[in-house]
Amino acid sequence: MDGLCVEGCERCPALVESRSRIVNGAGPEDADLLFVGEGPGANEDEQGEPFVGRSGSVLDSALRDVGLDRSDVRITNCVRCRPPENRDPSTEELSNCRGYLEAEIDRVDPELVVTLGKVPSEHLLDRSVAVTKEAGDLQDARIGGVSRRVLVCVHPAATLYDRSQEETFETTIARAAEVAGVGDAEGGSGQSRLGDY
Ligand code: URA
Repeated sequence: MDGLCVEGCERCPALVESRSRIVNGAGPEDADLLFVGEGPGANEDEQGEPFVGRSGSVLDSALRDVGLDRSDVRITNCVRCRPPENRDPSTEELSNCRGYLEAEIDRVDPELVVTLGKVPSEHLLDRSVAVTKEAGDLQDARIGGVSRRVLVCVHPAATLYDRSQEETFETTIARAAEVAGVGDAEGGSGQSRLGDY
């Protein structure tokens, strides 16, 4: 474990049984923006990369809208192995994988951590979270003993079964880019810089 890549972990018997592979985080080691999802689904388990299925397309598209490519950001999950039948990871599984997530956040040291959905939001904020109500709210959380800025976001999959979540999702991604100062928001002021030249 170099802070980013977990190999051969066998801490969670049910997940060792259900996974095809461990899905580590993807993206630059010095990204300003780090997204945390719940855990790999079938596509991620097959391809070995987080958010490569339909949820991933929703995320990619919202990133593109604010001038970002997925290769500009770091994307990871609370647990790195696919839970059986896509069930939520258990408290024990979340806790078994916590050290890996903390080490990754520590290593990347992003400007902003964005939690995608209820499981990562509650896991990192350590309280119950009404995600749709709190989406776009900037909070501080201690993660691995370090104070981090965290932005709660609805899970991209929520937009697929509830169209009304689309705007919330896109607005939150735009806010994330602004807070982290990346993509179209790079430079911070949001004003034209043509006058600089
Ligand atoms: N949903 C998640 O929470 N994580 C993934 O990697 C894919 C879908």
